[in-house]
Amino acid sequence: MARFLVEKSGPLTGEVTISGSKNAVLPIMAATLLTDEECEILDVPALRDVDVMCNLLESLGATTNKDLDNHRVLVKAEGEIKSEAPFDLVKMMRASILVLGALILRTGRAVIHLPGGCAIGERPVELHLKGLKALGVEVDSEQLKKGIVDAKATKLVGDTIYLDFPSVGATEVIIMAASLAEGTTILENAAQEPEIVDLANFLSKMGAKIKGAGTDTIKIEGVKKLKGVSHHVIPDRIEAGTFMVGAAITGGKILIKNMLTNHLKAVIAKLKECGVVITPTDEGVIVDGSVNPIISTDVKTLPYPGFPTDMQSPFMALLTVADGPSVVIETVFENRFMHVAEFNRMGAGIRTEGKCAIIPGGKKLHGAPVAATDLRAGAAVVLTGLVADGTTEITDIYHVDRGYEFFVDKLKALGANITRVED
Ligand code: EPZ
Repeated sequence: MARFLVEKSGPLTGEVTISGSKNAVLPIMAATLLTDEECEILDVPALRDVDVMCNLLESLGATTNKDLDNHRVLVKAEGEIKSEAPFDLVKMMRASILVLGALILRTGRAVIHLPGGCAIGERPVELHLKGLKALGVEVDSEQLKKGIVDAKATKLVGDTIYLDFPSVGATEVIIMAASLAEGTTILENAAQEPEIVDLANFLSKMGAKIKGAGTDTIKIEGVKKLKGVSHHVIPDRIEAGTFMVGAAITGGKILIKNMLTNHLKAVIAKLKECGVVITPTDEGVIVDGSVNPIISTDVKTLPYPGFPTDMQSPFMALLTVADGPSVVIETVFENRFMHVAEFNRMGAGIRTEGKCAIIPGGKKLHGAPVAATDLRAGAAVVLTGLVADGTTEITDIYHVDRGYEFFVDKLKALGANITRVED
């Protein structure tokens, strides 16, 4: 198994360019099933999840051409498209559920074996199904009891749908299905993440009629056909936030290129509360952690535009070395504190109580053998490894490969002492 070995490093300095967003490119790739014409997706990050989505689309009958050296993927879902997503691919990536709406529209049916819970939570899809049922999709309830989504529809008709929770995936699946349904769909309490806006922009270029993406109410007027288009994916705001924390935790100063500050307002506000100096410039954003000591602060994760749950563990890494106690409340996922045990092996002394974690701060961390417990937690223990005395050995780094392009190279270029060891 591959591992990271991280040594105590000096301040990160220099510049880093942010890659395309994993959580934008995955739904956009799923949406290519909505047309039989070729789609060109640009600024695609070379990530394991992108490979899995390509394999999934190929297994359904689409043709994909991955040119990740040039951050480019072509997809042409022409001809016969299958209805069943292979379980061996779905179990590798929960985001496979994102093909659900497009598959039903394209083939009249979708069969997806749900992979069940994961490290951060049970990950149900009842909101996706509630929305699709409102549009006229029938879901086999017996199959669902076995964890299989077997959904079919001959025709989809627009309706008004209220999401009990602003689920990102449910919003994306419903927008895709509604784009080719008959009539108008109003989606209320929709997720507002930038990745939703990017998907809506991609679909609009294809000919979809979508208004309100990025707000809590999205109106989709169904059209007859969508065409193939070319689209640049937005930068990955969570990768950007991770590197911002890298500068802060090491007391460094880095220029972050290709990031959109308006996608990270909550994170930037919290970093400023911690004393980090953040200066947008024409070239990119300068993040300076060398000016002030890290001041403790409290964080509560919320759906966008609140503080993103994906930044919870990287930000907690910073709080372990802040000058006093902090409280982190995780409201989005029910089990996203798995990284606390890893931080505590390094001497962080964090206590958790339900959705709350109390981080005492002011600790001298020491290197230890730790594991990446999810994609973002893997990046978080790299960050603590950069400031811990001694060596931190990190296992299960396949999680990190899913969502951070050239992570080791980018960190090394900033002065981090990190190596990837392949056993
Ligand atoms: C997306 O997951 C992201 N993944 C996640 O990023 C991110 O953490 C999450 O949104 C929240 O921002 C992709 O975009 C591929 P949700 P998704 O549906 O769509 C509950 C990463 O690290 N819920 O908004 O699965 C659910 O259990 C990953 O890049 C229901 O209860 O997130 C969770 O507690 C991790 N019923 C909460 O909502 C449902 O039907 C948020 O889930 C659907 C969701």
